[in-house]
Amino acid sequence: MNPFRFHNPTVLYYGRDQMEQHLVDEIRRFGTKVLLVYGGGSIRRMGLYDKITRLLEDGGIEWLELPGVEPNPRLTTVYKGIDLCRTHNVDLVLAVGGGSVLDCAKGIAMGTKFDGDVWDIYSRKAQATGALPLGTVLTLAATGSEMNSGGVITNWETKEKLGGGSPYTFPAFSFCNAENTFTVPRDQTVYGICDMLAHCFEHYFHPTPNTTLQQHLIEGVMQAIVETAPKVLEHPNDFDLRETLMLSSTMALNGMINMGLVGDWACHAIEHEISAIYDIPHGGGLAIVFPHWMDYVVSTNPSRFATLATEVFHVARDGRSDEELAQVAIAKVRAFYAAIGAPQRLADYGIGAENLEWMAQQAVRFKPIGQFRVLEADDVLAILKAAL
Ligand code: NZQ
Ligand code: ZN
Repeated sequence: MNPFRFHNPTVLYYGRDQMEQHLVDEIRRFGTKVLLVYGGGSIRRMGLYDKITRLLEDGGIEWLELPGVEPNPRLTTVYKGIDLCRTHNVDLVLAVGGGSVLDCAKGIAMGTKFDGDVWDIYSRKAQATGALPLGTVLTLAATGSEMNSGGVITNWETKEKLGGGSPYTFPAFSFCNAENTFTVPRDQTVYGICDMLAHCFEHYFHPTPNTTLQQHLIEGVMQAIVETAPKVLEHPNDFDLRETLMLSSTMALNGMINMGLVGDWACHAIEHEISAIYDIPHGGGLAIVFPHWMDYVVSTNPSRFATLATEVFHVARDGRSDEELAQVAIAKVRAFYAAIGAPQRLADYGIGAENLEWMAQQAVRFKPIGQFRVLEADDVLAILKAAL
């Protein structure tokens, strides 16, 4: 494994009533004025908005609001939040929602403490210099944003969707009550499942030697996701199932299962180019791209695919070669996506060949992508064409 330094400062609360007991104390560690950031209204409909504002009021916490964060959050909304924080001397940004709301809040927190255009941090021209403290109340299991420092922002003017982060943008605290995910619609639940599984795939396919423990940890999270996903779709109000999925999504991208290795991340880079132009759900895009990427790179190391078949999908080896089992693994991945109703082709979102070359160029504009197999623009184009 590679040398590494691990530091994850997020105080993570799981379970019922944790927010009610601890939210105000957590905020008070940083001050008494918060910017409450949320999305298009789901938190109002589910009663969470009322619950939180009552806690703030009773706890003597002053707040102002930034509602309307878009799925695939926009840079313009980040700018609005930065203005509010600066004008009103906010002490902490409180994000209530899914990954988009959390990511937007990270951009706001980082941008408020940056002397310049926050977009420069996302477009690799500058590095963050600090951030306001950030707290989260998670309502959708998918991204792991509740316990990592990354965030993805879309610049709609330039049609760029870029990830950025810093040591300053780990949430100081996150509340994860699976009850808050009961109302997530079926399609968003599916996208979340695809995203958390994709994070595991990104870690699993890497070239770093001596990573036996990491391999088993990643397989464990993938097993939990694959076993739980169909059950959650059948019983969306089952607390235990929703909680298993939620913890799987946190663990998939909080840095713990991938210590000392550099994952592939080509499929994420490709998906971000698709949603930068077509504004599709991130998890849906990943479900489309991943099987085609797998077809394209499988010859690099078939044995890694073979263990995916045997350890995660419980396929008996039956004397088959790694190459044969690798094909079984890819078929199993496709079957899993089909079983949960994930999209399979770009055409499912009405996407044709019109922008494929642009997307392929954009995906590699900073450098070639991928670790398991390094991809240039031509490779990305081939994968996108296969996904049509
Ligand atoms: O806007 P509201 O009304 O809240 O509705 C949202 C939104 O329409 C709804 N929703 C969320 N919680 C709900 C709910 N509806 C009913 N009940 C609830 N409890 O779901 C819709 C999608 O929400 P969104 O936050 O966009 O979904 P997700 O959590 O999948 O986040 C996707 C974004 O995260 C980025 C993606 O690229 C995308 O922009 N990612 C962030 C990462 C990170 N920070 O580490 C890593 C990921 O790989 C990913 O790129
Ligand atoms: Zn993702």
